[in-house]
Amino acid sequence: MPAGFAPYQLPDEYADIRAATRDVCDAGVAPHAAEADATATFPEQSYAALKSADLHAPHVPAEYGGAGIDALGTAIVIEEVARACASSSLIPAVNKLGSLPLLLDGSEDLKRRYLPPVAAGEAMFSYCLSEPEAGSDAASMTTRAVKDGDGWVLDGVKRWITNAGVSDYYTVFAVTEPGAGAKGISAFVVEKSDAGVSFGKPEKKLGVKGSPTAEVYFDGVRLGADRLIGELGQGFSLAMRTLDHTRVTIAAQALGIAQGALDAATGYAAEREQFGRPIAAFQGVQFLLADAAMKISAARELTYAAAAKSERGDGDLTYFGAAAKCFASDAAMQITTDMVQVLGGYGYTQDFPLERMMRDAKITQIYEGTNQIQRIVIARELQRGKAF
Ligand code: CAA
Repeated sequence: MPAGFAPYQLPDEYADIRAATRDVCDAGVAPHAAEADATATFPEQSYAALKSADLHAPHVPAEYGGAGIDALGTAIVIEEVARACASSSLIPAVNKLGSLPLLLDGSEDLKRRYLPPVAAGEAMFSYCLSEPEAGSDAASMTTRAVKDGDGWVLDGVKRWITNAGVSDYYTVFAVTEPGAGAKGISAFVVEKSDAGVSFGKPEKKLGVKGSPTAEVYFDGVRLGADRLIGELGQGFSLAMRTLDHTRVTIAAQALGIAQGALDAATGYAAEREQFGRPIAAFQGVQFLLADAAMKISAARELTYAAAAKSERGDGDLTYFGAAAKCFASDAAMQITTDMVQVLGGYGYTQDFPLERMMRDAKITQIYEGTNQIQRIVIARELQRGKAF
């Protein structure tokens, strides 16, 4: 093999991360996936299984007590957890989303205070950007933080907050300079236990039902000056820089859901007989499986390339994060729909996991920016000459 091709092969440590995560998920996550979905309850047993193997927040650096797994390894963990249970994959994914603003811009004091409990599995971290009237247009938020002596008073409502109520810590984006648009937004750490924080009823959703989504209310929440993350007025840029990295984790989640569906459908097609033969012998079924495998391979290459760029902090991460998230989630929606088709009537029932996977896939086209927003981001990066 020419020496030049060696770097194109993933080092063995990533295969080890995948194998270790798959073992944990087969034993401790997959068995609870159907129940978490059916009862719409947070999968405590899956969280315990992930914690026991240090896979609940793998991105936290070792200096803060974490496993210190890089962006590619973390993507592989999320992919493998999502292959078993998409709801559970939001534990490592949203722990990263919520805490990444601290890692990117937070003071050493904030990092030392809030990251070790997350690494130890004693606390989870969520991310509060969207509002009832500020979804795709995130900069139009109205949650306000008003200066009060040395500190701040926070008032407002955040919506669609993943793991709301389960998480102990929240990165909250709020307007600190009204009228200044994106430049008037700052980021704060808020604790669930802060006076004035409360939660809405969990949303009744199509999928990822084992991960609660709710509104978070801030009613005169007093925050010390030390809760500000980074510089005043830099919150919107921080929110966007965070999403550049974490859209890669949603790509990984979508990839895992798609792989889980392909694995289940491939196994079924080999067993199920019609017209005297396993249905896997028919081209109509083969083509569905082949298309799924092809799209998963392409999505995986793009996602891992984006993860490597996330780890290195490359200048084209905005493009790659958006492209990976958009491509992998569109692929996952198509693949899970087709894999339900492979199972026919059985695929449409809760006796098999395919219908759950199809419902779970849908959200990956919506959260962390709809795929229409991803295409806008991609087009802007193309125009800036930053798309490759
Ligand atoms: N990195 C750094 N800075 C960035 C940036 C990036 N990727 N993207 C934008 N910025 C900066 C810009 O440079 C600009 O600053 P300057 O004026 O100093 O240059 C500032 O931010 C404003 O940027 P734009 O003018 O591009 O902002 P916009 O209002 O046009 O919005 C957008 C851009 C891409 C549409 C953005 O609003 C967006 O991504 N919307 C989608 C929101 C989203 O993804 N929400 C997901 C919520 S999280 C979630 O779903 C979580 C969950 O719980 C699972």
